[in-house]
Amino acid sequence: MSVLVTGGAGFIGSHTCVELLNAGYDIVVIDNLCNSKQESLNRVEKITGKKLKFIECDIRDRAGLDKVFAENNIDAVIHFAGLKAVGESCVKPLEYYENNIGGTVILCEAMRDAGVKKIVFSSSATVYGEKNVSPLREDMPEGQTTNPYGTTKLYIERILKDTYAADNDWSVCLLRYFNPIGAHKSGTIGEDPKGIPNNLAPYILQVAIGKRDHLSVFGDDYDTPDGTGVRDYIHVVDLALGHVCAVKKILGEKGCFTYNLGTGIGYSVMDVLHSFEKACGKPIKYEIAPRRPGDIATCYSDPSKAKAELGWVAERGLDEMCEDSWRWQSMNPDGYC
Ligand code: NAD
Ligand code: UD1
Repeated sequence: MSVLVTGGAGFIGSHTCVELLNAGYDIVVIDNLCNSKQESLNRVEKITGKKLKFIECDIRDRAGLDKVFAENNIDAVIHFAGLKAVGESCVKPLEYYENNIGGTVILCEAMRDAGVKKIVFSSSATVYGEKNVSPLREDMPEGQTTNPYGTTKLYIERILKDTYAADNDWSVCLLRYFNPIGAHKSGTIGEDPKGIPNNLAPYILQVAIGKRDHLSVFGDDYDTPDGTGVRDYIHVVDLALGHVCAVKKILGEKGCFTYNLGTGIGYSVMDVLHSFEKACGKPIKYEIAPRRPGDIATCYSDPSKAKAELGWVAERGLDEMCEDSWRWQSMNPDGYC
């Protein structure tokens, strides 16, 4: 079976390529490398001892996609390609809508015309909005998104649901990720953020490696056990394994499926900081700062649907996530250079 992985050179994509190859799938990766380097894929081949096919291609390039489908016998698509910086999406909303939504529509048209109607999509817990109370379940109503990035996820989910509703020959799997962190055990692939990281784990790692002075903890007066924000951090390898289960599902069954990929456990900012301190064996400087606009106190999943229907459970805990992230960061202080 052959899987087309869009955005496969990125953080989650590269880890998923490892697990797909380990599971015996052939893979074709397309990526325009706007937020990644091809080196990640060289390392995927080293980790697995298997070859993959990389084609530099933008998902908005219809002719390029047609060629990819014509020249490769693709059975299913895992669609990671997209822009993902929340802050940037507020400054450049049109670029986000055009790349993420426009790109997905073009990809789906090319898939339909090639007769490949099986897709796994990278969605996000952000579609639950601010009002639903954790643990978040797939049958809860979607909420109001607070930024254009989040809105692209919500709209793409709707576009894919409508696509299935109009043509039941499709098989669609919407995966709502919680907070992916960690890295492959080898320390050779991991998250390689450009510029100042927005998210917690990459920021802590840059403080730990000496690139930033201290972590700003955004608020210590939330209604949580220690006052700092609580999230459902999930090891990227567990997340990658969730994609292998999702591909198996859509290869075997038609339908439109939605699953949370999380651990079901909420950890606070201070829990994460302390776990990173253990992993790197030194204190990490922090200061309490005002709340970040748009943040909520608590967000974690109910992952039981993915367990029941996909047979998937996240197995790696917070300490392992931090140890593996630290190994990647210390072995590659400047990322993939
Ligand atoms: P990433 O930036 O590392 O990977 C995305 C990849 O897509 C990059 O390699 C980039 O070069 C590529 N890309 C972007 N636009 C493209 C286009 N038009 N054509 C071809 N390639 C394109 O991000 P990631 O963290 O690996 O995230 C993967 C997916 O998961 C994204 O859709 C993201 O929104 C989603 N997601 C990520 C998180 C997270 O915390 N990392 C959480 C929820 C959802
Ligand atoms: C963020 C995005 C969300 C996206 C998700 C993907 C925002 C508002 N939300 O979620 O749309 O789907 O990333 O991973 O950006 N924190 C600090 N100091 C920091 C950074 C973060 O204290 O320097 C805190 C935050 O306040 C939060 C927690 O750490 O309580 C996690 O933050 P982050 O890693 O940015 O993820 P989310 O906010 O959950």
